[in-house]
Amino acid sequence: MRTVYLNGEFVPESEAKISVFDRGFMFADGIYEVTAVLQGRLVDFDLHLARLARSLGEMALQLSLDREQLLAIHQELITRNQLQEGLVYMQVSRGVQDRNFLYPPVGSPLTVVLYTQAKVVLDSPLAKRGMSIIGLPDLRWGRSDIKTTQLLYACMAKEQARAQGADDAWLVKDGWITEGTSNNAFIITHDGAVVTRELSRALLPGITRGALIALVKEHDLRLEERAYTLEEAQGATEAFITSSTSFIYPVVNIDGHPVGDGKPGPLTRRLRQLYIDHALAVIA
Ligand code: PDD
Repeated sequence: MRTVYLNGEFVPESEAKISVFDRGFMFADGIYEVTAVLQGRLVDFDLHLARLARSLGEMALQLSLDREQLLAIHQELITRNQLQEGLVYMQVSRGVQDRNFLYPPVGSPLTVVLYTQAKVVLDSPLAKRGMSIIGLPDLRWGRSDIKTTQLLYACMAKEQARAQGADDAWLVKDGWITEGTSNNAFIITHDGAVVTRELSRALLPGITRGALIALVKEHDLRLEERAYTLEEAQGATEAFITSSTSFIYPVVNIDGHPVGDGKPGPLTRRLRQLYIDHALAVIA
């Protein structure tokens, strides 16, 4: 049985209980982070912490744990659960209150939960096979840049993809792709440019996205941060997604149309390897 962290204590998962009055449960009034673990160590922990701080700020949440405490909790969980490869999930909600739409006074206790999840990251079959995706309208709220626990539309979109025999969905707003349901979306054009949507309130600033962009620049590849359509993606040479739980997975089919020759492309494979080398170099 896993050990989880709940409000200052490490407890067996069967004993980790949260009140029915938790605002995370009632209003999805909470934020989260997912950090990859390789060889029992955390990938780009400080970048995840920086995004956590931003999400907390946008939601007017004041977490009393500092960097050293949060790092220690992450590492303690990895050790106790003997996690080699997978992820650490962390969630902060606005705590337990009588149901009231208004925020409780600043300083009211928050609910803090962390747990580990084992997952094959490096040797994932999807990395070799590539994903089939469908396009769906982006019906999420207007602050998709905040990593909130309000993920219902992502669940609905993934279910719809599964019902159509696909692996996932890319979301389209006003005719332009914003991102995947739980990942950032990239294409590679015929002249070799790596293209992804520019950051705004319409998409999450992915940590993997940011690290990959740095690698693209470092290796003198061309980067374009701009909007693109599903049609452009279908006609692209290659396409892929980035996230902490996948790193980089090729996208080989969009709405039934093969991307390129319908197999994971060479530049996507190279970028995945560059990202893995980066992750192994920065794990802490
Ligand atoms: N999802 N976009 C969305 C909507 C996401 O939910 C995620 C991450 C990403 C990629 O961000 P990062 O590279 O920092 O993981 C983009 C996590 C993994 C999840 O919900 O499980």
